[in-house]
Parts: sequence; C-alpha cells; structure tokens
Amino acid sequence: MRKVRVNAASKSYDVLIGRNAVEALGQEAKALCPGALKALIVSETNVAPLFMDAVKAQLEGAGFEVVSYVFEAGEQNKNINEIAGMWNKMAEAGFTRTDFVVGLGGGVTTDMAGFAASTFLRGIKVIQLPTSLLAMVDASVGGKTGIDIPMGKNQVGAFWQPALVLEDISFLKTLPAEVFTEGMGEVTKHAFIMDPALFDKLEKANGDIRSDEDLLEEIIFMNVSDKAGVVNEDETDNGRRQTLNYGHTIGHVIERDSGFTKPHGICVAKGMGIIMDASVRNGLLDAKEAERMKDLLKLYKLPVSDEITPEEAVTGAMNDKKKRGDTLSVILVDKIGSAVIKKMTKEEFLEFLSL
Ligand code: GLY
Repeated sequence: MRKVRVNAASKSYDVLIGRNAVEALGQEAKALCPGALKALIVSETNVAPLFMDAVKAQLEGAGFEVVSYVFEAGEQNKNINEIAGMWNKMAEAGFTRTDFVVGLGGGVTTDMAGFAASTFLRGIKVIQLPTSLLAMVDASVGGKTGIDIPMGKNQVGAFWQPALVLEDISFLKTLPAEVFTEGMGEVTKHAFIMDPALFDKLEKANGDIRSDEDLLEEIIFMNVSDKAGVVNEDETDNGRRQTLNYGHTIGHVIERDSGFTKPHGICVAKGMGIIMDASVRNGLLDAKEAERMKDLLKLYKLPVSDEITPEEAVTGAMNDKKKRGDTLSVILVDKIGSAVIKKMTKEEFLEFLSL
C-alpha cells in the first residue's frame, strides 16, 4: 500500500492508497480512534449497495457498533437537511465525543460526512473512504468540508482534517465512465498548475489511465502527493491553496446555474478552457502551451469551453466565496506546471474575459 503523510498545520494524518485498502479499516480505526465504541457510516444510494457491507463488516469486526445514514445520491442533496439527519442519527444512537464518522462515497459524501463530524458535539473524528476518482485525488484530502446553499456551492462549511483517508483502488472498478471522466478534470488541473511530470504521464497514457491498475495507482499517488504538498503549505486557503481553484471561479458559476446538475469536474474543465483562452488573448500564456493543455483535456473527453458570457461569469463569480472584499483571486497558468494568483476587480475580470 502506498502512503502519503499530510502534515497540515492543524493535524497530521495518512492517506493510504492501494488495492483492497478497505481491509485495513478495522485495525486503523481501532488505532486512530481510541475509546470509540460507535461509528456512523455516511453514504449515498449509488455507493451504499456496492460497498456498505464490506465497510460495515470491517468496523464490526474491530468491535464497533455501526449505524449508517444513506442519502439520495446527487449534488442537489448536499444541504443542511441531510446534515441534520446525520446529527440526529448520531444523537439517537448515543454517540459521544470519542465516536467517529466514516465518509463512504464521492466528493459530496466526503464533504458532508466531514461537515457533520466537524459540528457534532463540536467536532468528532472522521475517516474518509473515497469511492470516486475525484474524491480520491482532491475532495477527501485536505479537510475542506461543507454543503451548498442556493446562492452557491460550498458556501457553508469548516476546515476539518480527517483522522485517515483510505483509498481503495478496487472501488473504482464499478465507477461509471462519465464519473471517472469527471475526476479527470481535477487530475488534469493538478498537472496544469503544479506537476509537469504528471502532465507528461497523462499525455503518454493517451487518454486511458484506467485499464492499467498500476498506472492508475501511481497517478492517484502523484495527485495525492501534489494536493498534500499544497495543504501542508497553506491549510486554510490564504495563499498557495487558492491555486487549486484553477478553473473553479467560472466552473462554479456554470455548475450553480445548471442547478448543480452538471458534474463539478466537467464544469471545472470548461472553466479552465475559458481561462486558458482568455490568458492567451491577454498575452499571459503562450498559445502553444494552451493548445497542449486543451488537447490533454480533449484526450480525456473533457470539454474546453461553454456558452456562458463574460458578463454572466463575472456576475456569478462576484457571489463566490473566493471573492475577498471587492476583488477576486483569479488563478492563471502561465506555463504548464506553474500557476499564479492574480487579484482582479470585477471590471478587470470582465475586461480580461472580454478581450
Ligand atoms: N479542492 C480545492 C481544495 O481543497 O482546496
């Protein structure tokens, strides 16, 4: 099993990556949650039928009493009602501060499980078991937890680092092709903003990192290492972590305007494509570099544009939490593997996109 140690300012923990990693859950939970008697598994309707039994068996085998909370799959359900359901489930089962939550699912699940854990009894432990590519390479690592509100994605939440992230590569076998593709939005993002070696590996893999499990594991490991490096430097998003928002400022607007029906990773790819084109027009990125990046997105069946107008993008972005005061932190890639943060006013961002 491969291991990445995250050393965030508030907490250090392991991300374990490998085939059948779930088999380590019982022993790991016992070691990491001393005094715990109970565990709440949070999952959703697509994932629970596939993996709930195996996860439950692991925890029961280690002596924990297990309860579960399964919500209807989908970003539309990433809301406070589901969190209240999780709180009530734990309260009814008599959870105390030494008990813990397990997030079993994609990014929506790990974000919500983490948020429920961060708030119940003012904070209990969470172990994340991501089941999608996107959650493995991004959402489950780094402690961002939360929910959406009608005005925007992830507008309410907390930084709450997990006790452990257990990434079972075998879980990806049943992942629908379009959900895998969505995860490639965040994988390519990491390559663009900080990892030229990952970029080369993805180019060489020629659009398929899925059929070779060794390659898949290595690529996930590279992504987790990249993400951990950023979180270690800037846990609470005041500096370098903001570069992980490449493509997200516009991507979130597209996602929210679709009523959260368009997948997050797809919207991020669209946002990255739009920013790349605007960067070239503004003389901030070489056209050939942009072409290579867009070709990589296309190779992995990701979109590179959207019909959103500059006005719609800017108006939507001004409601985003990435805004500080009257300025936006817009993330640009100036060459493959290098990102910069550019502060722009609303007017400057509109000019940047309209040129
Ligand atoms: N997904 C972006 C971050 O964790 O900061």
